[in-house]
Amino acid sequence: MAVERTLSIIKPDAVAKNVIGQIYTRFEDAGLRIVASRMLRLSDAVAGGFYAEHSERGFFPDLIAFMTSGPVVIQVLEGENAIAKNRELMGATNPKDADEGTIRADFAESIDANAVHGSDSPASAEREIAYFFATSDVCSRA
Ligand code: PPS
Repeated sequence: MAVERTLSIIKPDAVAKNVIGQIYTRFEDAGLRIVASRMLRLSDAVAGGFYAEHSERGFFPDLIAFMTSGPVVIQVLEGENAIAKNRELMGATNPKDADEGTIRADFAESIDANAVHGSDSPASAEREIAYFFATSDVCSRA
């Protein structure tokens, strides 16, 4: 199985709940390595650019308001099948539909404040990692 990289964001609700470490432990326990990491507050422009593909959706203003409401922690995860593995750890977008034991089932409140983001395909992962990190920022173990 191929070693992949994926972009993960711990969203403002989970940072405010002080569960960064608990979420990192889930990544590590699943065999994913954190190979780049930064904490920052997203501006409207940076959040808008990141979620540009959703700009026509009705929820877009709420999504941007939420993602800029407090600090986020952004990381690159590396490991076998990292994109699907991270999506499995996260659970469904709406925490009401998320399987027991997933990050969103355990830490998220609503579809607006759903704790984490993860790239959904190799193409998204490549774009999203490059959006937040320079190549030299990623400390690969591969
Ligand atoms: S879709 O339909 O598959 O494109 O949408 P989805 O991937 O489920 O959601 C895309 C991102 O938008 C967020 N989202 C919302 N935010 C606020 N309000 C509502 N109603 C809402 N619905 C979806 C969702 O959390 C996704 O964010 P990321 O960061 O990609 O997980």
